[in-house]
Amino acid sequence: MIIDKEGMMKNNINETITFDDVLLVPQYSEILSRKTIDLISELDMNRKFDLPVISSPMDTVTGATMATAMSKAGGLGVIHRYDTIDDQCDRVRRTNGTKAAAIGVTGDYLDRATALIKSGCDILCIDVAHGHHALMRHALKTLRNTIGYDIHIMAGNVATLEAFNDLADWGANSIRVGIGGGSICSTRIQTGHGVPTLQSVMDCSRSDRSVALIADGGIKTPGDIVKALAAGADFVMLGSMLAGTAESPGQVFYGKDGQYKSYRGMASVEAQIDWRGHTASVEGVSHTIPYKGSVVEILMGLEGSIRSGLSYTGALNLGELRSKSKFIKQAAAGQTESSTHIKSRY
Ligand code: XMP
Repeated sequence: MIIDKEGMMKNNINETITFDDVLLVPQYSEILSRKTIDLISELDMNRKFDLPVISSPMDTVTGATMATAMSKAGGLGVIHRYDTIDDQCDRVRRTNGTKAAAIGVTGDYLDRATALIKSGCDILCIDVAHGHHALMRHALKTLRNTIGYDIHIMAGNVATLEAFNDLADWGANSIRVGIGGGSICSTRIQTGHGVPTLQSVMDCSRSDRSVALIADGGIKTPGDIVKALAAGADFVMLGSMLAGTAESPGQVFYGKDGQYKSYRGMASVEAQIDWRGHTASVEGVSHTIPYKGSVVEILMGLEGSIRSGLSYTGALNLGELRSKSKFIKQAAAGQTESSTHIKSRY
């Protein structure tokens, strides 16, 4: 039940969907080789990428090594902001390829942005949990007045079309869409707020603004990536799928069953203690995940799966995927059948 401003009760709760609720219907295809499929996506008119995948600005996902690997694979890595300005600039300088880095909306964000640009960064990511906020509007306005329009500004996160349009109107070139869906998020548990990520993507893809849409949070399989792109995302942003690799920051350690690395939400207790010495609102968790080896192999696998996904829809590029794809809802039995269900039987 929704209670509106006047305290009236309404029974018009919207139904929402996310990745496991839907499937894409296979369609007639004339694609003879997956190599003919083009995965190029535009962050803006001057910035095209061969692989529509971006690594998250998190301190267990993207440092210079990951950003360089992402660039080599045709994607993009956004260097996290949980460090001194000097250290972040150093990581930007050590990144080969496209250089992108995160900033906040308070404190030293303007000095940080200026220093990052001097270090060669030409994509800034304004990285906050609740992007539909007066502080975001102020930061975007201030940055545009200070740095002009040559630098690409990615901003987020948002969950609604209204927020998406506002950030676009305030000066963002690309927008991260998804609140509370990340594998290490506890925002929905702690605050009761959020929108299932695929729903947010579908809602925001109705925007008429010329900005790129980045689906972020809760993407756990290559199939989820294809669903996000079919729903209207220009890019996906990945945390857990790229964490635990040789290129992610942090040490490998030995556990009971093998090698592990840490993957943690940036609002987790552990991350907050490390970057600001105390905790405020805890909206994430820290987790250990099995060590996965090189991210290069993972990205090659993802690229192959995304190409296969397009060929099942008969789409030669991401635009065709978006226009041709047909989503269907699946119930619980369909979800079970869609998994490798042999595992639950033997
Ligand atoms: P995945 O599912 O790819 O999600 O692991 C990564 C995304 O999660 C967001 N993020 C957080 N969200 N609390 C949150 O509610 C956190 O502590 C947190 N840390 C990261 C972020 O959008 C990232 O790309």
